[in-house]
Amino acid sequence: MSVLLLVRNGRRAISVIGGGRRGTDALSGVHSAARRFIIDMSYSAHFMDFKGSSIPSSMKKLVVNKLSPNFREAVSMQTVAVPTPGDADLLVRNRFVGINASDINYSAGRYDPSVKPPFDAGFEGIGDVVGLGLSASSRYTVGDTVAYFGSGAFAEYTVVPAKETVPVPAVKPEFLTLLVSGATAYIALKRLGDLVKGETVLVTAAAGGTGQFAVQFAKQAGCHVIGTCSSNEKAGFLKSIGCDRPINYTTEDLAKTLRKSTRKA
Ligand SMILES: NC(=O)c1ccc[n+]([C@@H]2O[C@H](COP(=O)([O-])OP(=O)(O)OC[C@H]3O[C@@H](n4cnc5c(N)ncnc54)[C@H](OP(=O)(O)O)[C@@H]3O)[C@@H](O)[C@H]2O)c1
Repeated sequence: MSVLLLVRNGRRAISVIGGGRRGTDALSGVHSAARRFIIDMSYSAHFMDFKGSSIPSSMKKLVVNKLSPNFREAVSMQTVAVPTPGDADLLVRNRFVGINASDINYSAGRYDPSVKPPFDAGFEGIGDVVGLGLSASSRYTVGDTVAYFGSGAFAEYTVVPAKETVPVPAVKPEFLTLLVSGATAYIALKRLGDLVKGETVLVTAAAGGTGQFAVQFAKQAGCHVIGTCSSNEKAGFLKSIGCDRPINYTTEDLAKTLRKSTRKA
């Protein structure tokens, strides 16, 4: 008999191999030595939240039940069992999750029309590793802090493949924004835009999540950066992060200002 018991709430997992009873070997007719319980601490110590913060049996998460640009209509809160990580996965207790324009686009069916509800909402999170599979333990242990870009972040706990996570020194929301917004801005400028030093770069929605990264990356790359936004407060913020020419399009004529600003570009 071989039984693997995984018990939550701080109790250890126990792998029992063989019976506990002194008995007779039916084939040979001789008394066999007493069989021992083998407690497999290697796996359980990795898997369980042994540092004292117990994992509940259920949790809340947001599920997209119908495609709609109205996020409130698209999602519902569900109470479900806390998922169990597979061999190469981490169970992350989410501390911060990123809310991006992409969440609305995805739950409206704009990004990938082949994806049909129900599906889990949320793309990025940062939190503590509270459980993990054996293979994942080659890189992580319980108590590590990680950021990840993966589906199902709008939940108290999320299972994420370890290879899709990034170790971070602390649970700070600043790290979180690098994943979706930072990566999007980088890909847009570097891979798609072939950014070259000295160019003039126009960033629209420049004070938004992606825009503020694009402004800073372009500035770091030695470009002249123009950023559009809808208020003086945002224009001031853009200036503070290095934007050479913020344009508040509600008070300035955008086309005229751009023509003037880019005449020499
Ligand atoms: N975040 C990502 O990782 C990511 C990934 C892929 C694609 N994108 C795309 O990049 C764009 C910006 O995303 P984001 O996450 O940076 O968005 P965000 O932080 O929500 O910022 C969006 C900004 O866009 C401006 N805007 C202009 N017209 C708008 C409208 N009709 N409705 C709402 N906002 C409007 C607003 O700034 P002003 O009021 O200053 O104009 C708003 O603050 C979106 O089109 C998104 O789909 C983003």
